[in-house]
Amino acid sequence: MNIKTYLVSRQKLVERALDRFLPKANTKPATLHRAIRYSLFAGGKRLRPILCLAAAQACGGKIRNALPLACAVECIHTYSLVHDDLPSMDNDDFRRGRPTCHKIFGDGIAILAGDALLTIAFEIVSNAKPTSRYNTSILLREIAVAAGSQKLIAGQVADLEAEGRNVKRDQLQFIHENKTAAILKSSVRLGAMSANANARKLSAVTRFGQRLGLAFQIIDDILDVTQTSEILGKSAGKDVAAKKATYPAVIGLEESRAEARRLTRQAHSALSVFRSRDAEPLHALANYLLEREY
Ligand code: IPE
Ligand code: IPE
Ligand code: MG
Ligand code: MG
Ligand code: MG
Repeated sequence: MNIKTYLVSRQKLVERALDRFLPKANTKPATLHRAIRYSLFAGGKRLRPILCLAAAQACGGKIRNALPLACAVECIHTYSLVHDDLPSMDNDDFRRGRPTCHKIFGDGIAILAGDALLTIAFEIVSNAKPTSRYNTSILLREIAVAAGSQKLIAGQVADLEAEGRNVKRDQLQFIHENKTAAILKSSVRLGAMSANANARKLSAVTRFGQRLGLAFQIIDDILDVTQTSEILGKSAGKDVAAKKATYPAVIGLEESRAEARRLTRQAHSALSVFRSRDAEPLHALANYLLEREY
């Protein structure tokens, strides 16, 4: 399969679905809905929703049933970026190739746009089609826990508290597993759930998402050091400047690359329960994430 054309066609699918699920820009309060759409339709890679759809397909499910869940995780992800960029957090001026939400709309509206994106995710999930193994409350719980105070938020708290500190490797892994891997893992789990996956397939996808999620944040750390802001669409070099706890800072660039490769290998092997044809997109996505340049 050609990963580039696959990504473009999946991105289009996700963009169209997001557009349907989100209030129009002129819906009152229009400032808020413009801010939401400004950040959501700014050209993100849509990797989490695409992984969700690919996991659904690997488990024999239909894209249509996975799409609401895919859009919900993208809303949570985008909210986390809008808040992550705020002056009181990472204080970033650029995101997805344009000025950050708070730069255009001000801190207050950016905070509220994040709040609204987070909440919309639950509304969207509440309308997703349940299956015999996974009812609506299981789906809601999955996303609530991953976005909650002991996962995504826990990671963000630990990330802030580690700034300027000398962190140990296990603490660094805690930050990355929670701030990033948790949502990525839930993305593939929700895809599998939409396909009514059995326990064996769900746990395979869980392991895949966990390994891939950790690798994803390690690569994000590496790119912050090695890539330009133009290509990233966000300011490069900011982690060193902010004295962030990152893999390159703690174990060095080469060891970070080796670790990302190791984790990606483990992600691939987690997929052995699937017929290779069914899991082909997941394998291709894992390779792409490792080799990505932005
Ligand atoms: C950036 O995520 C934030 C991290 C968790 C590393 P992405 O690199 O997926 O950002 P977008 O969605 O493509 O903008
Ligand atoms: C982002 O980590 C994690 C979340 C948004 C939850 P980073 O702070 O490294 O992401 P970028 O580099 O700003 O995209
Ligand atoms: Mg951050
Ligand atoms: Mg940041
Ligand atoms: Mg980063």
